[in-house]
Amino acid sequence: MLRIGLLGAGRIATVHARAISAHAKSQLCTVSDVFPEAAETLAASFGAEVRSSEDVLADPSIDAVLIATPTDTHSDLIEAATQAGKAVLCEKPVDLSLQRARSCLAAVKDADQPVMIGFNRRFDPTFTAMKTAVAAGEIGKPELLAITSFDPAPPPVDYVKVSGGLFRDMMIHDFDMANYLMGETPVTISAVGSAIVDPAIGAAGDVDTAAVTMTYADGRIAVIKNSRRAVYGYDQRVELLGSDGLLQAQNMLENTLVKSTTTGVTGAKPTYFFLERYMPAYEAEWNAFVQVMTEGADVPVTLEDGVAALAMAEAATRSHQSGQPVALSEVE
Ligand SMILES: NC(=O)c1ccc[n+]([C@@H]2O[C@H](COP(=O)([O-])OP(=O)(O)OC[C@H]3O[C@@H](n4cnc5c(N)ncnc54)[C@H](O)[C@@H]3O)[C@@H](O)[C@H]2O)c1
Repeated sequence: MLRIGLLGAGRIATVHARAISAHAKSQLCTVSDVFPEAAETLAASFGAEVRSSEDVLADPSIDAVLIATPTDTHSDLIEAATQAGKAVLCEKPVDLSLQRARSCLAAVKDADQPVMIGFNRRFDPTFTAMKTAVAAGEIGKPELLAITSFDPAPPPVDYVKVSGGLFRDMMIHDFDMANYLMGETPVTISAVGSAIVDPAIGAAGDVDTAAVTMTYADGRIAVIKNSRRAVYGYDQRVELLGSDGLLQAQNMLENTLVKSTTTGVTGAKPTYFFLERYMPAYEAEWNAFVQVMTEGADVPVTLEDGVAALAMAEAATRSHQSGQPVALSEVE
């Protein structure tokens, strides 16, 4: 049985606590949070102990830690955990700073511990099936990728201020999805963005609506659209056109009832948000990490993958600011 320490006891930590406890080969042993009450509430629900992060890392009986703290703590905790001999599953993004993420990558390169980054969408059954079909050559060569990723409603402005901005916080998932499906990173990135959903987001220096175009070395193209507001629910669709066909990943719906009458044909809305849509993905993500730990499986989403997506977010941020396409190779 793998003994797990959970660092952070907020929104996403609660999701992971459930997956860790539900897995037959892992046990949630400790929970840490800078707010002890948050840690106590979560620990009590799962029969875990509350400990400081330092105590957890110093405890030789803990095999791995799941880092679900705010983004600006990730690199420091990844380094501390690997130095303490713990395997790591860390939430996205690796850091707010690309430079810091790269120094973290260099620091843990020789550590003999697996580090996995929490791009949970790779484990969504529909996107996994899409990747499997692409890898099997079922649509020939993928040539044009279109990702739609709309949240139902914007986050509080206090969150926006510390999030690193839409490209690093939200679109980072889509950058990783593009890398996963296209099998390589793009060469250039062009971004536009506006704050038209909530002016307070604009006042905080961020955007809530954005579109990115990416080109690949051989001329292939990817397009990503993000919005912080889709009044009908969480809109998560991917379309991939290949030389021999098309793959389309549709939304998960609240139910599958379709009503056809003289006035038209209607169906249910998409599920509300990421907790509803991606719960099976978080469970599969944890199972993949357990397989790394227990069966020596390859790390399916590496720290390098996390840094690659962050570099794309950095390029998109710069392109939005400058109005010019940015070559990924120029992003320091
Ligand atoms: N993969 C996903 O779908 C997904 C979804 C939401 C959030 N996230 C990521 O997860 C991370 C956390 O987001 P959240 O929404 O759960 O935030 P949150 O604010 O709800 O939770 C973070 C918790 O960490 C605690 N904390 C802060 N510093 C700490 C430290 N040094 N040690 C221990 N605890 C500390 C805070 O007190 C808070 O309780 C972010 O990096 C975010 O980008 C990923």
